[in-house]
Amino acid sequence: EKRLTDKGDLIQAAEVFVKKELEHEPSGHDWWHIERVRRLAVLLAEREGADPFICELAALLHDIADEKLNESKEAGLDKVRGWLSDQGAAEDVKQKVLSIISTMSFNGGKNPPMDTLEGKVVQDADRLDAIGAIGIARTFVYSGAKGRPIHLPGQDFSGTDYRSSDKSAIYHFYEKLLKLKDLLNTAHAKKLAEERHQFMEQFLVQFYKEWDLTEERK
Ligand code: ADP
Ligand code: NI
Repeated sequence: EKRLTDKGDLIQAAEVFVKKELEHEPSGHDWWHIERVRRLAVLLAEREGADPFICELAALLHDIADEKLNESKEAGLDKVRGWLSDQGAAEDVKQKVLSIISTMSFNGGKNPPMDTLEGKVVQDADRLDAIGAIGIARTFVYSGAKGRPIHLPGQDFSGTDYRSSDKSAIYHFYEKLLKLKDLLNTAHAKKLAEERHQFMEQFLVQFYKEWDLTEERK
């Protein structure tokens, strides 16, 4: 008979596990992304009345199963499932966490809405970390890691037929980042997103000014 692990111990163990797995992740899914999403998830859980333990645990584990970091999505989920079992996590905890992390990704905005409040909270936390100043930084790190350019002038951002090597970092703003504020679930995340979204709009205005040399002359 396996002893069920205490909530605090499970969070602690998840932190150690994830730090080790993602410490040297080079494409913007590093430990500090996880730590920011975890803090956002706990904050949103408090505001929205969601279960803070499930939100924190799912936030800590959410990128362990990422398709980009595993052979397949199923292999990633198996890794998380196996880890939770080894830790003696309760069956309902396992089921809730796996359900959240298997359905929360952006996927072009095409995934169905999250079906639990905890899922909505963790998805919003991950999305908030994809926008604003930090979202901008992560996008350029990701593009750099993939060997992609900053910007390809003249590109039509409504186009959908680009090979991924033709997708500049600036393209990613139109493909994803600028859409995220309208895809958030919770009231408090929507509020936090306003300033972050505005900052991205401002960044793009300045970016094109410098690119086109249309800055005002003093
Ligand atoms: P999700 O798990 O929600 O699908 P991703 O793991 O695809 O999110 O992306 C996480 C972050 O990595 C993005 O917010 C962005 O900063 C960066 N990123 C992902 N895809 C790209 C891309 N094609 N170009 C630039 N940055 C990207
Ligand atoms: Ni993430």
